[in-house]
Amino acid sequence: MNLACAYGDLVGLGHRRRLAQFFTPPPIARFMVDWVLSGRHGRANKVHDPAFGLGAFFENAPEECEFTGGDADDAILAFFSEHSRRMPSRLSKTDYLLDFGSRYDNIVCNPPYLRFQKFLNRDAVAAAFAERLGVRLSGYTNIASAFLVKSISELKRGGRLAYIMPSEFLNAGYGAMVKEWLIRDGHLDSVIEVECEKEAFDEVTTSVCIVLFDSSRRLDAVSFRKVAAVGDFPTVMERPPVNAVPAGRLSPREKWERFFVPPGESVKPALGRLQRLSEYGRFSRGIATGANAFFVLSRSDIASKGLSDGDCVPCITKSQQLKKAVFTDEDFCRLSDEGAGVHLFSPGDAPDAAALEYIHEGEKIGYDKGFITRHRRPWYRTERRKVSPLLFNVFSRGGYKVVRNYSSALTLTNFHCFYPNPLREGYVDVLFLYLLSRTGRRILSLSKRRYGNSLDKFEPNDLNMALVPRREFFDSLDQGRLRRAMEAVRHGEDVAGWLEARFQSLLLPEGAKQDDWSAGADNSAGKPVQLCFAL
Ligand SMILES: C[S@@+](CC[C@H](N)C(=O)[O-])C[C@H]1O[C@@H](n2cnc3c(N)ncnc32)[C@H](O)[C@@H]1O
Repeated sequence: MNLACAYGDLVGLGHRRRLAQFFTPPPIARFMVDWVLSGRHGRANKVHDPAFGLGAFFENAPEECEFTGGDADDAILAFFSEHSRRMPSRLSKTDYLLDFGSRYDNIVCNPPYLRFQKFLNRDAVAAAFAERLGVRLSGYTNIASAFLVKSISELKRGGRLAYIMPSEFLNAGYGAMVKEWLIRDGHLDSVIEVECEKEAFDEVTTSVCIVLFDSSRRLDAVSFRKVAAVGDFPTVMERPPVNAVPAGRLSPREKWERFFVPPGESVKPALGRLQRLSEYGRFSRGIATGANAFFVLSRSDIASKGLSDGDCVPCITKSQQLKKAVFTDEDFCRLSDEGAGVHLFSPGDAPDAAALEYIHEGEKIGYDKGFITRHRRPWYRTERRKVSPLLFNVFSRGGYKVVRNYSSALTLTNFHCFYPNPLREGYVDVLFLYLLSRTGRRILSLSKRRYGNSLDKFEPNDLNMALVPRREFFDSLDQGRLRRAMEAVRHGEDVAGWLEARFQSLLLPEGAKQDDWSAGADNSAGKPVQLCFAL
């Protein structure tokens, strides 16, 4: 049995998850250590790992290397010390995020991937980062980002740093702070997308990249590279990058995932015809009940509990319930008749006797004590929402689902709900057709976040900031034909070709000139649309 399995058996998965103890495969660890040691300070032969774990980097460093490490967990350090045949020059129990004042020649790290919001020490860490580094850590950030900026601040001049990071920061709003630190002095060498994430990090559910930072040089361009198999790591730096983006053209507020697309295949929106979706309205999350097992009911549940129709409202509760691009009341009734849980318990201000009894039943089970329910008054009153005419699923694989909702059903958090501005209600259908089209999907892909295992995610704000046609563009389309296209979609007909012909001019043809990296055209509010996807 290898060391990681023996350790896992000893401490259990709960302990490992709490401290994000997932381990780097040897070929990746070796590649990262070799890279930092081949820099200017490589000759000093010193490497530090602030999240040491079971020493994956140490084990793959040359024996003569002066390796130091720290880890916040006594258990893992004790296990390593007991079982390792050799020890680093120094290994200490250290909470890296609270330990300031050291400088290192070279740093390698696979930091813990934990949401900052869930981090126990977060107030102390936030205060220390503000005071020592002048960094305000957003609640949305993750511990890995905090590790990375701290390591950049501790790298000696001339040293190198190699970090494994959850790729989310490349596109997420909170990632702007990290990207700013990475590019501020022109030392970012490469970002490597680990395409073989399942092979490399089978326990980790996020997609992963490796950041290479060299403080000995000012680099003219940042290389965006991809590695398709773990065995390809030794030669990744010898192969040409997918993209070499001039350092001066990278903005921290840009979404960087798109740089992993080769230039010939990249999506180049015609910015002069586009504006932010927020011009038409806003997406927001669906309803969070805090206890779906209590609030989601089927028709037979309603009958068996003696509840009345007025105690429930129609509600989509699972992404799979919407199979077509259009959803009507008939579709809803069919689901309800089939016994699907599509009724949300939502009693009025004065619940009747049957509803009160159901509420007491829920309290006996403890549904009123959940994180969301205990902060709600009364706990059983879910959000009152208007029905949204346009639904967009949060997670998707191989393309998102967008649904024109003609029914009176609400939706839970599996879908984001679009609420048009009162003056823009007339644009809902044409927005829907755009989002459905291949061109719309390609342009929207610039706004998504990539998770592990080819899972894509959109947050409401990713959608609100996404690029959609300007009103003038929509107004110029033949309105009669648009209505017929909507009818055709309602009847399940294939309108992909027609939509493509309408919307393809929203993408620039291959080789067309536009300053596609930076500024674009004006939107209707007179502000420039930037392709840097500021969040
Ligand atoms: C993803 S593991 C990496 C372990 C090892 N370096 C590797 O690459 O296989 C992250 C390690 O960080 C440690 N850790 C978690 N929070 C920490 C903190 N605040 N300071 C230092 N180490 C921490 C965990 O105990 C865990 O061993």
